[in-house]
Amino acid sequence: MTEIIAQDAQVSDQVLRPEVAQRIDSLPSLSNVVGEFLEMSADELVTAKDFERVICKDQALVARLLKTANSGKYGKSRSINSISDAVVLIGLNDMKKIVYAVSSEGLLRQDFAVYRYPGQGFWMYSLGVATAARILVEAASKPTINGEAAFVSGLVHDVGKLIIDDFLDTEGGVRRVALADEVAVTGVDHAELGAHIMGAWNIPEVISGAARWHHDLAGAGDICSAAAAIGMGAGICDFWGVGTEPFMNLGEDVDPTHHEQAMEALGIPDGQLEPVLFEMRQKLAGLEEMFGN
Ligand SMILES: [Fe+2]
Repeated sequence: MTEIIAQDAQVSDQVLRPEVAQRIDSLPSLSNVVGEFLEMSADELVTAKDFERVICKDQALVARLLKTANSGKYGKSRSINSISDAVVLIGLNDMKKIVYAVSSEGLLRQDFAVYRYPGQGFWMYSLGVATAARILVEAASKPTINGEAAFVSGLVHDVGKLIIDDFLDTEGGVRRVALADEVAVTGVDHAELGAHIMGAWNIPEVISGAARWHHDLAGAGDICSAAAAIGMGAGICDFWGVGTEPFMNLGEDVDPTHHEQAMEALGIPDGQLEPVLFEMRQKLAGLEEMFGN
């Protein structure tokens, strides 16, 4: 069998099998809005009005956004009837979070044959990791990625599973698939495959790199703290059952000793973890309110 050697600097020397590489082309892409938003967010001169103009080009997105903005906590004070109302009322940062969430729904709200997520919890899990990663980066004394990029990286960090699921042969589904088993069937694990997918989507390298190393901080080099935010965010969401259990359990105590390497990379001392976890619990509960079934 011919094998394709990975060329991208963000991926290692593992080999991607041709039948797996072909599947990347057939995967639905993230919405163009995500790419436009990321570019605009890097430009300090861009205003809230510019973001509104991009959103308004996609009427399906506008409809979905207004429905979401009127659900849960935002809808209780007054009804939101336009994107500019939404930006004024809930703020540009939260508006962008909803745009990223809604834009990724078609891609991530999937059932798996093997990886087991209750209902279509993979989207909720991905949103949870995005939210947790952003909070960790914003609390870090050694960030190598900004909060918005960390959010997008967390959102797509496990996207490789969408393809690997087709190649696994495990009857009845499993909660976790060993990375070695993923490599055995596709030539790469889901983190590395995710970096290939993000490369095909022209996602900025800081975002794909953080996701690439979320299971292997030792390989992350100078983006170690970015990868740590994704890996630690994923570990905590998994522990609390965000998207991975029928009901999340945000009351469980997180043991800092399980995250020593990530906290060291981020520059978050033990004593500063509790307020970070408090904010995560609040934001994750809000996610469930806005996007839960
Ligand atoms: Fe993962």
